[in-house]
This record gives sequence, structure tokens and C-alpha cells, in this order.
Amino acid sequence: MDNKILVTGGLGYIGSHTVVELQNEGFEVVIVDNLSNAEESVMSGIVAITGQQPEFEKFDLRDKADVKAFFAKYTDINGVIHFAASKAVGESVENPLLYYENNLGALIYLLQEMAKKGSAQFIFSSSCTVYGQADTMPITEDAPVKPAESPYGNTKQIGEEILKDVCRVNPQLSSIALRYFNPIGAHPSTEIGELPIGVPQNLVPFITQTGVGLREQLSVFGDDYPTPDGTCIRDYIHVVDVAKAHVAALKRLMHGKNSENFEFFNLGTGKGSSVLEVIQSFERVSGKKLNYRIAPRRAGDVIQAYADTKKANGVLGWKAQSTLDDAVKSAWNWEKKIRDYEEMSV
Ligand code: NAD
Ligand code: WQD
Repeated sequence: MDNKILVTGGLGYIGSHTVVELQNEGFEVVIVDNLSNAEESVMSGIVAITGQQPEFEKFDLRDKADVKAFFAKYTDINGVIHFAASKAVGESVENPLLYYENNLGALIYLLQEMAKKGSAQFIFSSSCTVYGQADTMPITEDAPVKPAESPYGNTKQIGEEILKDVCRVNPQLSSIALRYFNPIGAHPSTEIGELPIGVPQNLVPFITQTGVGLREQLSVFGDDYPTPDGTCIRDYIHVVDVAKAHVAALKRLMHGKNSENFEFFNLGTGKGSSVLEVIQSFERVSGKKLNYRIAPRRAGDVIQAYADTKKANGVLGWKAQSTLDDAVKSAWNWEKKIRDYEEMSV
């Protein structure tokens, strides 16, 4: 069995947690990252957890010649987990070409090299955003892909289409697209976690930053949605659970257990939580009151999205283990650590 895996974007949020799980399972990892949205210090966090130093090549996957040179150097790599991408929805609306170039250019160059191999496995980071506002909950993999709300979302839909087309004509290449719901939290060691640049757009980092006093107040975007408490519902999943699913998916391909050479799976917990429930979770695990206010709806938000996880549970033999409280607690512990935040004793 080939043991060396390329993890693109391996110093990023989900990538770094996946590198840890791969190493825990005995894989050797080579990380490619251009540090456009990561810090090199993440490497020390990975080493602190696993005691193993992954190889690291710093370059931009938009450079086709560099991608080619990488595979000429690492001829023994047949497995790729491809995280590297730009992921800010709003920025993608402002700068669509950046998103199409980064999220699809890099994918194409990687697949061009993988398609030359006698046997190759490829895991792609997709998103629940491909479902848009699904008509029924929980969302199964049979739910239709809806027109994308943003260029970012479109890159995930097109990325999956590219993979499917390439796999059809390259039977020696097998791939899995993993459609993540809402990954949150940090490694329980607090050695690695999420490092959003600037003002966080996502709910949980905004909450934890408010908790340590970095932000004054959380705005809850809308409380007049047709949901039990009026706020939007999402499927928040611990990032370590997401990471473990990648190892399960990779093993499925490596052991030739896949039924087709392009498959896709939802990665969620199966449980929907409202914005107010996430706030309550934070207040429970931190013992703090969160300063928040109800604000107008945010454009583009779907009312609710949570996963039917039967396919991933059954076929990948993987199931999310952590509760919402576990995940929020880990995010809070991470935030406190990186901000040197001291709890006030009463
Ligand atoms: P992240 O920004 O933390 O990680 C991406 C990493 O890729 C960063 O380290 C960045 O420096 C690197 N990178 C970006 N472009 C690159 C390039 N051209 N060459 C080399 N390295 C490059 O993001 P994340 O949250 O870890 O997300 C990982 C993947 O999962 C992305 O594809 C994202 O679209 C997808 N995804 C994320 C979420 C989420 O909520 N975080 C949800 C669904 C899907
Ligand atoms: C969750 C809920 C907000 C911030 C986004 C991308 C999606 C993706 C994951 C990549 C929503 C509410 C948020 C705040 C709030 N990833 N909220 N106040 O919107 O489900 O998904 O990240 O593929 O493509 O769109 O996640 O964390 O931004 O929001 O009330 O300050 O929290 O309205 O209901 P979302 P989120």
C-alpha cells in the first residue's frame, strides 16, 4: 500500500487537522501550501501533537510548472487530499476570477498529473453549499444540486463535475468528493485550530472572539425565519470528525472498496442547530454570557441545512463522534489559548 499522501492546503484549518489524523494512522504526509491563508507555525502544532514532522513544499498550486515539478520529485505519491482553495463567499462575489483560477486551476493541474499514474486516489473538499436551500431535511446525497449562490459555491459544483468527467475517462483514478456541512472547533490539544484573518465571517469564531473581548457584540442575522426559534439552522460538525472522515475515504479508495470511481458523501452530524442554540452552547461550555443582538438577515443565507449522514455512516464506516458542546468547547479553549485569555475568578 502506498503510504505517502499529498495534502494540499495542509497548513490550513481542516487540512492541518487531517494531517494529524493521517499521521496517527501511519501515513506519511507531504504538505503543499502557499501560506496565503495559513501560518508556518501551524507545523509546530502538528509536530507537538503527533511527534512527526511532515514534509513541506511551499508553492502556489496555480503554477502549473511547479505542480509538474512536484510530482516529478515525489514519484511515490498516488494519494492526494486537496484542501487548497479560497473560501470567502463574499470575496468570491467581488473577485470571481480569483476564485475560478485558484479553486479550479489548481484542481485541473493536480488532476493532469494524477491522471498520468497507473493508480491514483483523490479526495476533494466540497461543500453543502452545492445543495443551496434543499427542499427537504435532512439533506441526502440524492438532493439536487441547486444553482450556486456565489462564485465560491460554483467552484465547488464545477470542481465536482470536473472530477466526475476526469474519472470517467481515467478508470485508474478514483475520487471522492466530501460535502462538508459546517466544520467548527479545534484539536482537543489546543495545538491547532482555526485562524481566521480579520473579522470572522463564520458564526463560531465570531462568538469565541466576542467571548474573549476581541469583538464587542455578535449580530444574529435574522430571527424571523420559519424555524422553531426564528434563527437559521446548520449542521455544525467538529473539525476532528471531518478530518477522520478523510482518512476513512482515503482508505476506501486505497483498498479498492469504492463502487464507482467518483463518489460523494455528506459530512455532517445529522443534527441541525439554530444560531441561538449555538449561542446557548457557548454560554454553557464557557460559563459566560455572550453579548449579542438580533440584526437583519444576511443576504444569501439559507434557512436550514443539515445532513442525512446514512451514506457516509454506512459506506465509509465513519460517524461524527462529538456533540455541539464538545465542538464549541474546543473552539473556546483554542480561542482562549491563542489570545492568552485569563478567566476572571469570581
Ligand atoms: P483554509 O483557508 O484554512 O485552508 C486552505 C489552505 O490552502 C490554506 O492554508 C491556504 O494557504 C492554502 N492555499 C490556498 N490556495 C492555495 C494555492 N493556490 N496553492 C497552495 N496553497 C493554497 O480553509 P479550510 O477551512 O481549511 O478549507 C479547506 C477546504 O475545505 C477548502 O477547499 C474549502 O473550500 C473547503 N470547505 C471549507 C469549509 C469551512 O467551513 N471551513 C466548508 C466546506 C468546504
Ligand atoms: C452560520 C449561521 C448565519 C455569523 C458558510 C459558507 C459556506 C461554508 C461554510 C464552505 C448562519 C449565522 C453567522 C454572524 C450570524 N463553507 N451568523 N452572525 O453561512 O452556513 O456557511 O461557511 O464551503 O459556503 O456560506 O456558515 O458560519 O457563516 O453562518 O448570525 O456573525 O450563523 O446567518 O445562519 P454558513 P456561517
